[in-house]
Amino acid sequence: KIHDNSDEASFYVANEIADLIRQRQKSGKKVVLGLATGSTPTKVYEYLVKFHKEEGLSFKNVITFNLDEYFPMQPDSIHSYVRFMREHLFDHIDIRKENIHIPDGSLEKEDVRDYCQAYEQKILKSGGIDIQVLGIGRTGHIGFNEPGSTLVSKTRLVRLDRVTKLDAASDFFGLENVPKRAITMGVGTILSAKRIILMAWGEGKSEVIAKAVEGPIKESVPATFLQHHSNCDFILDEAAASAL
Ligand code: GLP
Repeated sequence: KIHDNSDEASFYVANEIADLIRQRQKSGKKVVLGLATGSTPTKVYEYLVKFHKEEGLSFKNVITFNLDEYFPMQPDSIHSYVRFMREHLFDHIDIRKENIHIPDGSLEKEDVRDYCQAYEQKILKSGGIDIQVLGIGRTGHIGFNEPGSTLVSKTRLVRLDRVTKLDAASDFFGLENVPKRAITMGVGTILSAKRIILMAWGEGKSEVIAKAVEGPIKESVPATFLQHHSNCDFILDEAAASAL
């Protein structure tokens, strides 16, 4: 779905999420959201905060699972996705703390494996993700599933691609400060969501978007695996759609 600009597109996505929350609230049911970080979804979060403040949209029935976190990473670091999510969304809405899940980048390495399995179990126990929001990296990664990730991959510790680290370098004030690893939900975890919305803005994403949508399905462009999903939309602005 191609929108004139990212603002309009973000409004559309925020409304789809808000509609599901309202609908479930009426019947006293929960909504499970899979959330992403990066610059792409920030406007969606801005709109959700606006709906909460101006229209009283409540997040008390919402459970969230974030896609990924750098490793190692302390939750209070300015670079952590915990901090990002608090600043952009969680600190401004009425979500219950116990309903927020973000991979823990502060664990000892030997504890990560069990932690990742438990993260998968928590998603399953919650009833599975209703809407998974995604951005896309220039390598074609979703979450931090870099080229080489398999279709069935689950939540795990991964090594970041050089291109991904270069893209993150300015945020970390230099390539040498970018963590070499991350914990990410797997491609398989993402594909288990009932609905997937991938967003991309700007010409810089146009090439990888064309590959993801029209290219052959292959491990070297993990976003191509989304072609297997029966309820996945790419929400784009004109520039991100320009190579289609
Ligand atoms: C990071 C995140 C991804 C995100 C990507 C794109 O790698 N782990 O989930 O999709 O960045 O970032 P941006 O939205 O800033 O382009």
